[in-house]
Amino acid sequence: MKTLIVGNWKMHLNTHDASLLVKRLNDQIKTQRSVDVVLAPNMLVLQPISLEIDRRKFGLAAQNAYSVDEGAYTGEVSFTMLRDLVDYVIVGHSERRIYFNESNDVIRDKIQASVRNEISPILCVGETKQEKLQHETRRVIHDQVTTALANLTSEEIDKVVIAYEPVWAISTFQGEQAKPSDIEPIFELIRSIVSDLYGHQVAENLRLLYGGSVTSDTVSGYLKIRGCNGALVGGASINYKEFSGIVEQAYALKNKA
Ligand code: PGA
Repeated sequence: MKTLIVGNWKMHLNTHDASLLVKRLNDQIKTQRSVDVVLAPNMLVLQPISLEIDRRKFGLAAQNAYSVDEGAYTGEVSFTMLRDLVDYVIVGHSERRIYFNESNDVIRDKIQASVRNEISPILCVGETKQEKLQHETRRVIHDQVTTALANLTSEEIDKVVIAYEPVWAISTFQGEQAKPSDIEPIFELIRSIVSDLYGHQVAENLRLLYGGSVTSDTVSGYLKIRGCNGALVGGASINYKEFSGIVEQAYALKNKA
């Protein structure tokens, strides 16, 4: 399975700065068959960026979309509108759950809309600090995964990527970081939930990413976790040296294997 490295630029970079970053990434990152590199810029710059990147080198992702295909929903962009533009959409990021009150039911509808529009959703799941302290991690992950996937067939689930992002480890670069030993049991849990729902083979084929303060220094440790197929990178993805370093590490590991 190819390693998947996704750069979530969040609400950073205007058109000019985004274009500058893409130029640098284009120069730094080589076309590599064993690693898929995907950029997730903000909605405004998605279109211009799509014309500037080498599509053999980079895939594109949106950070969010609305589950209804068309209609009177002021301010929203639908999966249908994005289908010719992006390969992936990030769905259920913790920042959307927390700041925009996205519930598991809302996220389920978005996952379904994504698959219906032939876009791979990157479903983000993860527990908050408080949930972790209350030993609720496994229940939270179970609820998030089962609800989000509730309306999918076993063929549709093929398109889904799941990113485990413990909320307490997001953008904490100097602070609390998840250890590989925290993450491996959660990867196992996610695969076992998917296996219960769709069978062993589907669970084996599922692409699982880790996200939370990943840098070029820490990425190898995360990619070495059993069952890890890549990383969802936030803060470090808008620094071209960091992000190309992350891609290089992923490539080196893959070639060693
Ligand atoms: P971070 O963000 O790498 O800045 O922790 C990851 C994410 O939010 O997807």
